[in-house]
Amino acid sequence: MKTLVTYMTQTGNTQKIAEAIFGELEGEKDIKPIGEVADLEGYDLAFIGFPVLQFDVPANVKTFISEKTAGKNIAIFMTHAVPEGTEVIHSWTGSATDAAADANVLGSFDCQGELAQPVIDMLLKMDDPQMKAFGEMGPSTKGQPDESRVQKAKEFAKEVQAKL
Ligand SMILES: Cc1cc2nc3c(=O)[nH]c(=O)nc-3n(C[C@H](O)[C@H](O)[C@H](O)COP(=O)(O)O)c2cc1C
Repeated sequence: MKTLVTYMTQTGNTQKIAEAIFGELEGEKDIKPIGEVADLEGYDLAFIGFPVLQFDVPANVKTFISEKTAGKNIAIFMTHAVPEGTEVIHSWTGSATDAAADANVLGSFDCQGELAQPVIDMLLKMDDPQMKAFGEMGPSTKGQPDESRVQKAKEFAKEVQAKL
């Protein structure tokens, strides 16, 4: 079994989760930024991760999922600023799984990720009131993903791999 962990990150949160997942995987494995992955040839399973940006999957990640995952076993992971369990997260998971319509989606994982200070400063300056509201919730995200979230990501990795 050969597994790929691929991800997009801007401030390191999604990368932290990607590395936790990677560390738990059995068998042959690779970890690469999404920009370095041409296709999923040769992989039995791919974990694909991203930060939620502007209420959706980032466009480059969505394109990757819709163009490269047909017929493949995949699992999705994402980080976001809102607390886990917030209703709107379902729509982000849905957006990723819709893009993966021709893939075999084995699971999805999400957790809170810290808003970095430069991001908070940028969001507070934006005209969009929803983005401003994110900026205001910045301090409540400090330190995420913490060790308990990293642990959950590790369990997710094992659960997904056990499905194959
Ligand atoms: C421009 C921008 C837009 C964002 N939009 C959202 C959003 O719509 N919902 C959300 O929960 N978090 C949003 N975030 C927060 C990020 O998803 C979160 O901080 C994530 O953990 C960043 O991951 P990274 O460190 O891997 O880049 C946004 C961040 C930025 C910079």
